[in-house]
Amino acid sequence: MKKPAITNLDIHPIIKNRWSPRSFSEKKVDPAKLRRIFEAARWAPSSFNEQPWRFIVGEKGDDSWDKLYECMVKFNQDWAKSAAVLIMSIGKQSSSKGGTNKVYQYDVGQSMAYITFQAEAEGLVVHQMGGFSADKARELFSIPEDYVPLTMMALGYQDSPDSLEGDFVKMEKAPRVRKPFGELVFSGSFGNEARLD
Ligand SMILES: Cc1cc2nc3c(=O)[nH]c(=O)nc-3n(C[C@H](O)[C@H](O)[C@H](O)COP(=O)(O)O)c2cc1C
Repeated sequence: MKKPAITNLDIHPIIKNRWSPRSFSEKKVDPAKLRRIFEAARWAPSSFNEQPWRFIVGEKGDDSWDKLYECMVKFNQDWAKSAAVLIMSIGKQSSSKGGTNKVYQYDVGQSMAYITFQAEAEGLVVHQMGGFSADKARELFSIPEDYVPLTMMALGYQDSPDSLEGDFVKMEKAPRVRKPFGELVFSGSFGNEARLD
């Protein structure tokens, strides 16, 4: 099932067509695709080129996938159980310039966005998650103190919405919505809609 964004203006098809389904087939993802996906992440921009992103990847059937799955809250486990690949994003807090890198989370988010776009280009789907235990991840993967587990994602091939259970079917078929432009893009002062004409 496709759910292209109903946009007011034409945008790049990769952005228009990307969405976050919860129906995943167990079909294995070609390792070459996975490598290209992480290559895309590697080329995201970052403050001072610090590249504070780190990733843990698990492929269904391996020990890493099992541990990543264990970190997820039950709500996410219920739909992500068939995802072929699970990924955790982790951010390095300290800066090589000394002190804390105040934009490390922003930078890691950008690298995750690059993953979503490369995945879309590879014919794959991604669903990101905040619903997981960072403490559990730290323990299961021996993550050092300076590194913070930030988000997770399920990645793989999409399945039919009817492969989901219960309320997830309705959620899968619900329309995608966004706030209007005027609530988001300002000029002159905060809250004052930019005209851009
Ligand atoms: C950082 C982040 C955390 C999210 N956490 C969850 C989550 O824990 N569980 C879930 O089902 N969806 C989660 N989502 C998916 C969002 O709900 C989804 O991206 C949003 O509704 C917009 O839908 P779209 O991606 O299809 O455009 C998360 C997305 C992001 C970016």
